[in-house]
Amino acid sequence: MLTMLSAGCAGLLAGCGIAANLSGWLHVAGLLLLLLSAIPTTLGIIMLLYGLLGKLRTRDFMVSSISWRGDERVLDVGTGLGLLLIAAAKRLGKGGNAVGIDIWRKEDLSNNSLDQLAANIELEGVENRISIRTEDARSLSFPAASFDVVFSLFCIHNIEEDEGQKRACQEIARVLKPGGRLLVGDYLPTHAYASAFQECGLTVLYSRSFFLTALGPMWIVSAEKPYI
Ligand SMILES: C[S@@+](CC[C@H](N)C(=O)[O-])C[C@H]1O[C@@H](n2cnc3c(N)ncnc32)[C@H](O)[C@@H]1O
Repeated sequence: MLTMLSAGCAGLLAGCGIAANLSGWLHVAGLLLLLLSAIPTTLGIIMLLYGLLGKLRTRDFMVSSISWRGDERVLDVGTGLGLLLIAAAKRLGKGGNAVGIDIWRKEDLSNNSLDQLAANIELEGVENRISIRTEDARSLSFPAASFDVVFSLFCIHNIEEDEGQKRACQEIARVLKPGGRLLVGDYLPTHAYASAFQECGLTVLYSRSFFLTALGPMWIVSAEKPYI
């Protein structure tokens, strides 16, 4: 985000200076630089807005979509630094438990590490309701029908192959209990995830854009596992 913003702003300033002060092909080059620099600047602003506001709004929307009893078992797939995991744990009472899994890839999230997540959990005082495991979303170790609620935010697109993304969706569907609910958010349209959930027998409630909630590109799919 910082690289995009600084490169974009530097390009805008340079483009303005060149276009305003020079003539001929240099004037045209300045205008071109202005136009091109608008791309990283816009992307940087979108990322900044998501980081400052959209992320918390998305988290609050996803967590408040559940009618909490307090005794749920919750899974956050690709929990990273615990954005949804910690918020979900705060909704839990006696008997409730939230599990976060991740492979903590540094290229997907700055400062991404199990130690940093553990520090965040302690800081928020929810360590008695949370457990964390290093696991790949494509091969979860949990038995079928283990969780009442499964969340995942901005994780599945990081799996490069379509087949791997589908496998992650199948795993999420497998570990969800009958009567359980899932919400999966990503910055790309979630229709392929919705199809994978449907193929697993889940009822898809919606798969649509939440641009205004996230103040940037965001699609969320929500589904329920019917009782057999
Ligand atoms: C952009 S971060 C999002 C973290 C968190 N959900 C949030 O919204 O703040 C994506 C996370 O997905 C994790 N991830 C990527 N591929 C994964 C996989 N195959 N299995 C589990 N986690 C994965 C990354 O390590 C990273 O923590």
